Amino acid sequence: MASVMQKLITPLASGPAEPPRNKVTIVGVGQVGMACAVSILLRELTDELALVDVVEDRLKGEMLDLQHGSLFLKTPKIVADKDYSVTANSRIVVVTAGVRQQEGESRLNLVQRNVNIFKHIIPQIVKYSPDCILVVVSNPVDVLTYVTWKLSGLPKHRVIGSGTNLDSARFRYIMAEKLGIHSSSFNGYILGEHGDSSVPVWSGANVAGVSLQKLNPDIGTDKDSENWKDAHKMVVDSAYEVIKLKGYTNWAIGLSVADLTETLVKNLNRVHPVSTMVKGMYGIGEEVYLSLPCVLNSSGVGSVVNMTLTDDEIGQLKKSADTLWGIQKDLKDL
Ligand SMILES: *[C@@H]1O[C@H](CO)[C@@H](O)[C@H](O)[C@H]1NC(C)=O
Ligand SMILES: *[C@@H]1O[C@H](CO)[C@@H](O)[C@H](O)[C@H]1NC(C)=O
Repeated sequence: MASVMQKLITPLASGPAEPPRNKVTIVGVGQVGMACAVSILLRELTDELALVDVVEDRLKGEMLDLQHGSLFLKTPKIVADKDYSVTANSRIVVVTAGVRQQEGESRLNLVQRNVNIFKHIIPQIVKYSPDCILVVVSNPVDVLTYVTWKLSGLPKHRVIGSGTNLDSARFRYIMAEKLGIHSSSFNGYILGEHGDSSVPVWSGANVAGVSLQKLNPDIGTDKDSENWKDAHKMVVDSAYEVIKLKGYTNWAIGLSVADLTETLVKNLNRVHPVSTMVKGMYGIGEEVYLSLPCVLNSSGVGSVVNMTLTDDEIGQLKKSADTLWGIQKDLKDL
């Protein structure tokens, strides 16, 4: 007796199933990892999504919950496992795993604890997806992107940190709100180190090509009577504010990672401020990762835009590079 399926469906194609073309893996199913996952799913960027974590119940729960939304998505395969074989053939791997800073913990100690975690994660990813692009989101992102690059053995253009992509998005939102326009119409970059020491490039801030610095030569400085500098302070404070209010940040970082993923998957050659290996640029002599405007395509960081920065801005970049190297040079087991 033929089964219902045999009676219902007549196969035409034969041969083995093809591997996925645009598989994305998310490592870490915390609030940030899941916001990345949902943003990537809703933007229909992937034909297979893999989730990995060490917390098995939560991992399975998140997988099932997303699978139950399949009717409303265009990603036919959503898989999860604590074993990295589930990630095989990924084009993009987003790393959100890691521990957070404990009260009173030094930055070096935090980084070293994450190094020990990454030593388990990164070689497994590369083993199963040797051609992938790694996007590091875990904090402190610039140091951990360097750590990932070292542990992966991948060429530098295929290891990217989310860097100041989110800081820049916050800056554009805050500036655009002040000007009564949409974020996408305010052009401006925050570069350098993600977080407190990020560098707002006031010299390049513009709307429709009109330089704000031409209209107000003091913009971004302490001399500015309009105090536009405050917009950068708001960017730096905004993560702390959100964490204070809801305990963590996740939606904006998730959306910004999906935006990077789109450029990588679709080979768009769009420019994003992301963390890249900057040795040899702007007089930086050490192997550190900092955010610069990068042209991303399906090879990863295709190229870096040589921004015209003021001496002061270059000085701030160098200072961040020194700070980061000060931490990196003492890391063990890299
Ligand atoms: C990405 O950009 C770089 C630099 O322009 C180029 O060499 C590379 O071939 C590009 N990759 C793809 C897939 O187009
Ligand atoms: C980048 O541009 C500056 C001028 O803005 C120039 O002095 C420098 O040589 C350029 N760097 C490279 C690598 O071309």
